[in-house]
Amino acid sequence: MNSILIIDDQKLIGSSLKVALEKEGFDVRVAETGAEGIVAVGKNNIDLVLLDIRLPDINGIEVLKKIKEMDPEIIVIMMTGYGTIENAVLAMKIGAFDYVNKPFKTKTITTILKLALETQKLKKEVGSFRDKNRMIYGTDKIIGESSAIHEILEMVRKISQIDSSTVLIQGESGTGKELVAKAIHYNSARSNGPFVEINCSAIPYTLLESELFGYEQGAFTDAKRTKRGLMEQANGGTLFLDEIGDMELSMQAKILNVLQEKKFRRLGGVKLIDTDARIITATNHNLRDDVNRKKFRQDLFYRLNVLHIYLPPLRDRREDIVPLSSHFIHEFNLTFKKTVRGVSQDALDLLMKYSWPGNVRELRNTIERIMIIDNPEVIQSRHLPLEVIGEYSPLSKTLPKDSLVAFNIADQGVDFKTVTESVQTWLIREALDKTKGSKIKAAKLLNLDRFALRYLMNKLHIT
Ligand SMILES: Nc1ncnc2c1ncn2[C@@H]1O[C@H](COP(=O)(O)OP(=O)(O)OP(=O)(O)O)[C@@H](O)[C@H]1O
Ligand SMILES: [Mg+2]
Repeated sequence: MNSILIIDDQKLIGSSLKVALEKEGFDVRVAETGAEGIVAVGKNNIDLVLLDIRLPDINGIEVLKKIKEMDPEIIVIMMTGYGTIENAVLAMKIGAFDYVNKPFKTKTITTILKLALETQKLKKEVGSFRDKNRMIYGTDKIIGESSAIHEILEMVRKISQIDSSTVLIQGESGTGKELVAKAIHYNSARSNGPFVEINCSAIPYTLLESELFGYEQGAFTDAKRTKRGLMEQANGGTLFLDEIGDMELSMQAKILNVLQEKKFRRLGGVKLIDTDARIITATNHNLRDDVNRKKFRQDLFYRLNVLHIYLPPLRDRREDIVPLSSHFIHEFNLTFKKTVRGVSQDALDLLMKYSWPGNVRELRNTIERIMIIDNPEVIQSRHLPLEVIGEYSPLSKTLPKDSLVAFNIADQGVDFKTVTESVQTWLIREALDKTKGSKIKAAKLLNLDRFALRYLMNKLHIT
């Protein structure tokens, strides 16, 4: 139940309002002087105050200031009489939600009151959503102990403080580019604004153009109504252009233009629209190479490259593997309500040696899969996927390229499952190689039904 305080020296108004508002289901208190009202705000958990501007002791404006000092969240609605309208305007500037002129109908008051409470509720929800994002995407969520990660964190902090410059994040797939982009946004002064993202490689040119810039009604056949593009939606916040290396040259020219002018036009529009969105870009290409090969505009590259973060592949910062593994185990313990304690030494050795072509995402997925499927108390090497075990197992190197081998079982025995799965993996990879990736042809070569092949590929994590 919302609780309301009426501060008014006219007993009749106070008591009749109290009755009306109690009927609406509010918890109502009345104070007859400013001093009494301030005491009541301090003592009770008040959501909203109806405050008369003219009070016998303290001026209503002063009371408003006091209340806002005590708790800026409390909604204050001023009640004004004849000749106090200028004060009402002043009150709004100080932070009153609204004002009503006396005399008023109780209906007017209850409507304003409900609107005010609803607005405050929404504000609180949005606020907590943002706090949550700030927690989820804060710099403390970027895990690692390598000097590379320390430098990256330092860069993220610095770049977050510089408000509007464009940022370029480069790194292989799965190295954490999106994570870093969000950390910059949620640590910057723009964190209250939107974080809008678009993957430039997944969208054909014409669609990308209308997504980014929006369009005017009638700009093309399907443009039934005017639509704001992402560039506008990101105003006051950040626009994250993912996979910018895949963007077509003509689109690159448009982006460069927006970066220089801070203005653009909707498709089919004449009006220049201002944008103040901060643009963060990411790519897994080596843009410098792309520039040399004339795939990426040099001028755009220089423009983007001013603030540049490079995320090295995981295999070049192996110190991060252990902390990342513990972090993900902790994360999935919470999500899946598991109690995995850690990773055994020999499994860790394998994790440390593996090349991680899919980088941090591959490590995260690996741990997630083990925790869901095997749910061990401690992750052992036998739980690891074949490519992690296989890359360094002598078997994968000794398998001949063109014939099957007969295996000798050594005195200490063999691990049947590992050996047979390695052979299966090897055969499937060979077949896929030979058929340039065609699963149908590979299945034929192996004399397998194609569903069986698909099943095996999933099981053996062959992509
Ligand atoms: N340093 C890190 N600490 C914690 N989690 C990380 C770290 N780096 C990456 N991750 C996690 O790994 C996954 C992949 O990261 P992200 O999506 O940011 O990569 P990306 O570089 O954008 O990949 P892609 O190029 O494929 O889009 C995410 O789940 C992310 O949270
Ligand atoms: Mg990404």
